[in-house]
Amino acid sequence: MKNILSIEQLSVGQIQKLIDRAIDFRNGVTVDFSQKKAMNLFFEDSTRTHTSFQAAEMNLGMRVLSFDAKGSSVNKGETLYDTVRTIQSIGVDLAVIRHPHDEYYKELEKIDIHIINAGDGKGQHPSQGMLDLVTIFDHFKTFKELKIGIVGDLRHSRVAHSDSYALSKLGAHLFYSGPREWYSEEYKKFGPHRPIDDLIEEMDVIMLLRIQKERMQNVVAFENYLEHHGLTVERVNKMKENAIIMHPAPVNRGVELADEVVECEKSVIFEQMTNGVYARMAMIEHVLTDK
Ligand code: CP
Repeated sequence: MKNILSIEQLSVGQIQKLIDRAIDFRNGVTVDFSQKKAMNLFFEDSTRTHTSFQAAEMNLGMRVLSFDAKGSSVNKGETLYDTVRTIQSIGVDLAVIRHPHDEYYKELEKIDIHIINAGDGKGQHPSQGMLDLVTIFDHFKTFKELKIGIVGDLRHSRVAHSDSYALSKLGAHLFYSGPREWYSEEYKKFGPHRPIDDLIEEMDVIMLLRIQKERMQNVVAFENYLEHHGLTVERVNKMKENAIIMHPAPVNRGVELADEVVECEKSVIFEQMTNGVYARMAMIEHVLTDK
């Protein structure tokens, strides 16, 4: 059974094929999966990923069955295994799942259904990783030797995990910034931690991460976060001419970045969202076929 659970499972060749295929879809290539059924099981809130997977499935002609975790038998104590085993019995081919537990998918291994991980706890977010790669590739046509600064809530970010693995594999140079206590051991193998002012003039990409207040036991003081670690207009003015600003969103305006920076000339935040639909079409095609 073909699944995409983590970006780590994809080879450089597979990643490049998925990027190329996403671009094909953006250019109007069509395929027909009208005989396949999809269900999007989101046990955590989402605007972009949920809507974008729905749009991708519809663009591929799939039949999309609705699922609302809040109105499901999960509230009667049904396990994730039993929910997914049930929808497989009903005839669903593809389950797109977002769940608060790291590696929730391990308990689903025996179920004969395709799974795409739409985010597991503090683990991975492979479809965000893929759309980020499509967006970077659009701008630079390569990953080799690019300097990419990943800035913000490294501790809770599944985006940082997926992007770090993928970008490092593809030959980019990674740097990290934000509160130093959020730069854990796992990032050391990918790149060093530096204050944002030491990075800003050198980076080709500044990738900001949302401060995930909902995952913090003790919410750190956010006053002065923008000044110390965030992207102010003054910092944007110091960036390289062709450099881009990314953020997986939702953004905390005035925290990770100044309000005026969200849609400034260097920002590709909304391009990322558009590319998300095509990247997800490529991922769905990948799991449903041998392409
Ligand atoms: N980037 C992202 O995962 O956004 P959502 O939480 O809105 O899906």
